[in-house]
Amino acid sequence: RDPNGPIADGALDLPRRLRRNRRADWSRRLVRENELSVNDLIWPIFVIEGENVREPVQAMPGVERLTVDLAARAAEEAASLGIPAIALFPFTAPELRDPTGSEALNSDNLVCRALKAMKAAAPDVGLITDVALDPFTSHGHDGLMDGERILNDATVAVLVRQALTQAEAGADVIAPSDMMDGRVGAIRAGLDDAGLSHVQIMSYAAKYASAFYGPFRDAIGTRKALIGDKKTYQMDPANGDEALREAELDVAEGADMLMVKPGLPYLDIVWRLKERFGMPTYAYQVSGEYSMICAAADNGWIDGELAMVESLMAFKRAGADGVLTYFAPAVAKRLKAG
Ligand code: PBG
Repeated sequence: RDPNGPIADGALDLPRRLRRNRRADWSRRLVRENELSVNDLIWPIFVIEGENVREPVQAMPGVERLTVDLAARAAEEAASLGIPAIALFPFTAPELRDPTGSEALNSDNLVCRALKAMKAAAPDVGLITDVALDPFTSHGHDGLMDGERILNDATVAVLVRQALTQAEAGADVIAPSDMMDGRVGAIRAGLDDAGLSHVQIMSYAAKYASAFYGPFRDAIGTRKALIGDKKTYQMDPANGDEALREAELDVAEGADMLMVKPGLPYLDIVWRLKERFGMPTYAYQVSGEYSMICAAADNGWIDGELAMVESLMAFKRAGADGVLTYFAPAVAKRLKAG
């Protein structure tokens, strides 16, 4: 036979041809292993002081900081789209920030007022609050400081009070993102002692010291304030086994759900945690991941809608039970439209 000549289809003697199952849409649907559903989505939102104001977040196209009244409308939108839960992040007025993050303990702070308004507007939407001091500290760190040192145990004591403040205002899920040792157990005990044993804990079990949080720090106004970096508490991106040890402690201390953050660069960690613990496991597709997809799409370099859906499907394939994503409303609308 002429080695450069045409080869008839079927000429190769292949008993297995993986392309057969891919040849038509009905067949691809039939063999599909994972499905993305609205039930997989957690929508992170940013709240600000004021009324009826939407403030665009510069580095996150399509994302806005919302005043409390509009956060309540967002909760209604989540309800009508079927998004199960919203995660709240406050932009604290600079004059309310101090070295100890005392505004975090104010039962009438922005987060608490937003929780109440959102619960009243959409009682069936789960509300998740971030426990960490960085939105409230003048130095932008997640904990209390002694000089340059972040104090672990003293911080945990404050985080317990912060968690109670949020739970009393109506938070359904407490999500500690501070990475202090022992905080999950201390928060669990604090909630139980206060008669709040029904409040769930989603621990940022494996949270890495990542460059992908940049746009978020702009959104809550901590980027310029932050002194140094967070490497003494957030994890080293080089480590995988350590994530298992972090998660093991959080499970033992009473976490109800585990989270990995950032998302796509850490799919191996999502997979390992899910395999090892079989816990409800979530990934946080963080601000920088969102911004990268939007920026490339805005330049016409990738199809933003397809990249959004593909990235979220990747989390499902890696074993995640859900994803915190700024794309939540967009993808929910897409899913609803079929
Ligand atoms: C703060 C916190 C951060 C994020 C969520 N909670 C930033 C940080 O640790 O500096 C990042 C989320 C995102 O980038 O979307 N404790």
